[in-house]
Amino acid sequence: MRIVVLTGAGVSAESGVPTFRDADGLWEGHRVEDVATPEAFEMQPGVVQRFYDERRAALALVAPNPAHTALARLGTLPGVDLLLVTQNIDDLHERAGATDVLHMHGELLSALCASCRSRCRWAGDLADFPPCPGCGMTDLRPDVVWFGEIPYQMERIQSALMRADVFVSIGTSGAVYPAAGFVQMAAACGARTLELNLVPSEGTSFFDEARHGPAGRLVPDWVDEVAASLGVD
Ligand code: NAD
Ligand code: APR
Repeated sequence: MRIVVLTGAGVSAESGVPTFRDADGLWEGHRVEDVATPEAFEMQPGVVQRFYDERRAALALVAPNPAHTALARLGTLPGVDLLLVTQNIDDLHERAGATDVLHMHGELLSALCASCRSRCRWAGDLADFPPCPGCGMTDLRPDVVWFGEIPYQMERIQSALMRADVFVSIGTSGAVYPAAGFVQMAAACGARTLELNLVPSEGTSFFDEARHGPAGRLVPDWVDEVAASLGVD
């Protein structure tokens, strides 16, 4: 069974990571234009670096929740060929045991050099502009895909969506493309589609089925159903 799962900020909400568009979400406290666009980084790099430094440091205060753990289990089920795509830049899927997680918006724990374009694992602050380990230039930026930039590994995602038997969207508002269009791409190629979200997303009408409630409950229940359908305990 070929399954593509897309997660958004909602899958990490019960771990204490703020979402973007809910009440008290990140876009309540910050303007996207100030911290999540290439123009913002050009105009006020220190502000942008500090926005991501704070979120990187906060990773130490949170832990995976049952939704992350269930998705890690899903990837180990015999008969399941899983592509786990996340819009999230936290590392909670990996800390729950998931492997080969595709971070289409980049990762907090990675830095990108604007000079040599190399990427490196990075856990500290970038606001003091450390030199790039590759070229020595002080051009390291958060390895995060900002508004207006192109997400990572889109060809791999599109190829998986076209072959998927099942597409499941978890904890995302369906506000940002291209991720918001994945359901239509998968459905057009014959996949069954399921939305697991706290409330109906902007794209909920495109799904064959939608279940609404906390991911920490919905996702383990759904993975149990997949395991049972495969005759696995
Ligand atoms: P988009 O136009 O699809 O964004 C839709 C929503 O995002 C808007 O309704 C608004 O809520 C918000 N938004 C987008 N751009 C904004 C801006 N400049 N100012 C304020 N709000 C804005 O997003 P996009 O610009 O087409 O994104 C292009 C690419 O950037 C997408 O492929 C997406 O994957 C990526 N992206 C990354 C992030 C991030 O923070 N990592 C955020 C959004 C988009
Ligand atoms: N369980 C399930 N869903 C939840 C939970 C929860 N416990 N808590 C919140 N949600 C849902 C909300 O109802 C909302 O639909 O998660 C969704 C979060 O939506 P957003 O805050 O818009 O986050 P996301 O969809 O990931 O944003 C997409 O936009 O700003 C960019 O790069 C940013 O990757 C992000 C992208």
